[in-house]
Amino acid sequence: MFKSLPSQKKLLLSLLITSSAAGFAHAEKIVVAHRGASGYLPEHSMEAKSMAYAMDVDYIEQDVVMSKDNFLVVLHDHYLDRVTNVAEVYPDRKRKDGRYYAIDFTLAEIKTLKMTEAFNLKNGKKTAVYAQRFPIWKSDFKVHTLEEEIEMIQGLNTSTGKNIGIYPEVKAPWFHRNEGKDISVAVLKVLKKYGYTEKTDLVYFQSFDADELKRVKYELLPKFSMDIRLVQLMAETSWGETMQYIDGKPEAYNYDWMFKPGAMKIIAEYADGVGPWHPMVVAPESEKDKLVFTSLVKEAHQAGMQVHPYTFRLDEGKIPEYAQDFEELLDIFYNKADVDGVFTDFPDRAVDFLEAQKSS
Ligand code: G3P
Ligand code: CA
Repeated sequence: MFKSLPSQKKLLLSLLITSSAAGFAHAEKIVVAHRGASGYLPEHSMEAKSMAYAMDVDYIEQDVVMSKDNFLVVLHDHYLDRVTNVAEVYPDRKRKDGRYYAIDFTLAEIKTLKMTEAFNLKNGKKTAVYAQRFPIWKSDFKVHTLEEEIEMIQGLNTSTGKNIGIYPEVKAPWFHRNEGKDISVAVLKVLKKYGYTEKTDLVYFQSFDADELKRVKYELLPKFSMDIRLVQLMAETSWGETMQYIDGKPEAYNYDWMFKPGAMKIIAEYADGVGPWHPMVVAPESEKDKLVFTSLVKEAHQAGMQVHPYTFRLDEGKIPEYAQDFEELLDIFYNKADVDGVFTDFPDRAVDFLEAQKSS
């Protein structure tokens, strides 16, 4: 998914810092396994999470949606049809828009489904989103709950002596609310149950929804006597990542303010970090010998926040042309742009990159 970049281009590029040496690596940098080791095994499968764990990442990501019977399930979309055989098993359960919503199925029903590497449906034919990745429909993967994943990670922390963190994202709080469900409350209760309550605990709570994140910060965390780290994800308005119901009609939340001068200071009032799309940090017009850095990292650091851009992929066409390979891309982000961590589908490569850097 290569997203276009119109509005922040207009707004943020006015603040460009053009540099070939924007910074020197300082604090500990982190690797976040994006949907697990999703470059190698189906995204958000327990197997992809175990593999990421074995790669010694710092954090493993969970995208979270709710089932009809209020279980938190680990899926990127609030639909089931991009990664499961729901259309074959429950052909009559799609909504008018043709989609199969996780929230219309009980956990028991979801558990009957076969999960696979992500696919596209074109002319009735399913084709893998990433042709070189784990083949679609092979082996036997299942959707699991947030609690099951946390127990697996915490169990491994016990059995290996390592201490790997979690990085849950509440998906589409606006959608869940419209369906009568409070996903943030549900996720916070699970985090508290498993001992993630303080800023020093190894958890980042992330959301694209600024109003929801402020609600978490000012209303829900105090209510549950919690104080965990929050990350504001950044999107383009045109993606429709966050919607608002105005007079009953859904409208895309306008992200433009996040790319204006002073935005990082505003976000820092309620969040501990930001998660920008990577072209919001290194502008897409960058060339090999002329990297163009936006002011985002500098302003976020000045405001006391961490920066964890997404998503770093090795697949064909996913490495920007200004980088000659994946490791150079990591060098540009970790060292020149000075980000504090990256979300990547290929976490072993980022772990190896940071390790090699430490020992050189
Ligand atoms: O949450 C960081 C990154 O995962 C955001 O993109 O769409 O993969 O959730 P997405
Ligand atoms: Ca995510």
